[in-house]
Amino acid sequence: MNYPLWDVPVIGGMWVIGGIAIIHVMISHFAIGGGFYLPMAERKALREGRDDWMQVLRKHAKFFMVLTAVFGAVTGVGIWFSIGLANPEGTSTLIHNFVFGWAMEYAFFLAEITAAAVYYYTWGRVSDRLHLMIGWIYAGTAWMSLVIINGILAFMLTPGRAWLEVAGTGDEAARFWSAFFNPTYFPSLALRTLVCISLAGIWAFVTASRIDSYAQPRLKTEVLRWSVKWLIPSFVLLPFCFAWYLAMVPEQQLNLLELGISTIGQGTFTQVTRAALVTVMTSATIAAIAYLFAWRHPLDFNFGHACALLFLAFAATGATEYAREMLRKPYVVGDHMYSNGVRKSDVDRFNRDGYLTRSPWARPAERAGVAAVVTSGSQVEAAHLGRGWLMFRGQCMACHTIDGYRSMRRLLADRDREAIGSILTMLHEYKEDSTYRAYMPPLVGLPEEVDALGDYLATLTPKPGNT
Ligand code: HEC
Repeated sequence: MNYPLWDVPVIGGMWVIGGIAIIHVMISHFAIGGGFYLPMAERKALREGRDDWMQVLRKHAKFFMVLTAVFGAVTGVGIWFSIGLANPEGTSTLIHNFVFGWAMEYAFFLAEITAAAVYYYTWGRVSDRLHLMIGWIYAGTAWMSLVIINGILAFMLTPGRAWLEVAGTGDEAARFWSAFFNPTYFPSLALRTLVCISLAGIWAFVTASRIDSYAQPRLKTEVLRWSVKWLIPSFVLLPFCFAWYLAMVPEQQLNLLELGISTIGQGTFTQVTRAALVTVMTSATIAAIAYLFAWRHPLDFNFGHACALLFLAFAATGATEYAREMLRKPYVVGDHMYSNGVRKSDVDRFNRDGYLTRSPWARPAERAGVAAVVTSGSQVEAAHLGRGWLMFRGQCMACHTIDGYRSMRRLLADRDREAIGSILTMLHEYKEDSTYRAYMPPLVGLPEEVDALGDYLATLTPKPGNT
């Protein structure tokens, strides 16, 4: 066995990654946008000689440093742990290709948190010019960490032709830069940068909402209105950047979005569409609250409003990241490796030689069990179902759980053994016109392995005809 198996009950491994990733995205994008917000606000306050504004900024800088350096870093490491466990094959592919990318990322991250700490602790202790410069160093290094990680994230959706040509040959690293500057690299960088800028405004509302409206009405009004302006670039440019992004995604991957839109009335498969709707609606609500409260009635704007905006931004971020993940299905690395770790190029081999004898997820003892010849009736049955379970574990559990998220029991509830068999046949044949291709990988293995999976799945939904 190459890998341990990580079975997370109810939510499945993907939601452990998802939950950590959404928090990380919220904080890390703020860390970048806030990096620009602080020196720009400081410059404005210095120019206008506003000590009161400087006081607010200092508080904001502290909040910023604690949030980004502590929670940003912890969630970042959390992503590593969870992807390594939930998708070791995919993680290994990324590390083999981008180890120097991550080395650069790490260097920028170190520079970034050092600059953040120096920025905060030198407040009022060094010349204004020097302090501002430290702020800009922070902003630059923080943005560079996005410039790097964006290459790796965009690669997973669109590795690009140059890299795919050499995938699996051992020469992948020679195509580092074309893999890095892949087709969705620039639109994705533009989108993320816009998100960073708007998140800087939204998190700034939290600090600004706590300014006392009676004691400092002018200050509160000015800080809030200035922060609202940080939302404007996003609302103007996001739709264009998003269209640019979609234009760079291969048609094959857009199938899912189209399928979602075309079946929206029937409600059959609408997760991507639903996620996209959540993004649009929450963003519109953010714009409305920011305008009606923070801009029009800044003195009534309180901590509760700021938290509501933050919550909406959280929902929008979550929905967008979810849609991006769904767009990539059934792949973890576009057109190369399926979400369950099976490489596209290995499909024929698995079908010819069998899956279980080669699955990196089967223990040696389990493999021996697969190969063993048993004669007694009950043992035959148990060994057969055991094989079915191993098939499920290796090929389906990346996206399904038994009883929780995308529950197999629920999805199979109305089906008898025959109907289960015909779904498996469809997944196994994986014909061009099968709608399953939009979100599920092909089922690989020998006919008897597929059969074992079918019998195992049938035990999940006991019905008269299933035995
Ligand atoms: C890449 C992720 C992924 C993998 C791997 C995967 N599925 Fe799915 N599967 C999905 C998604 C997404 C849906 C749609 C879920 C929904 O509608 O709630 C789905 C739906 C299904 C359905 C219901 C289909 C229908 O027409 O109602 C069945 C049955 C199913 N999967 C079986 C399997 C089996 C068996 C395997 C393993 C051989 C597997 N899936 C592997 C993502 C996956």
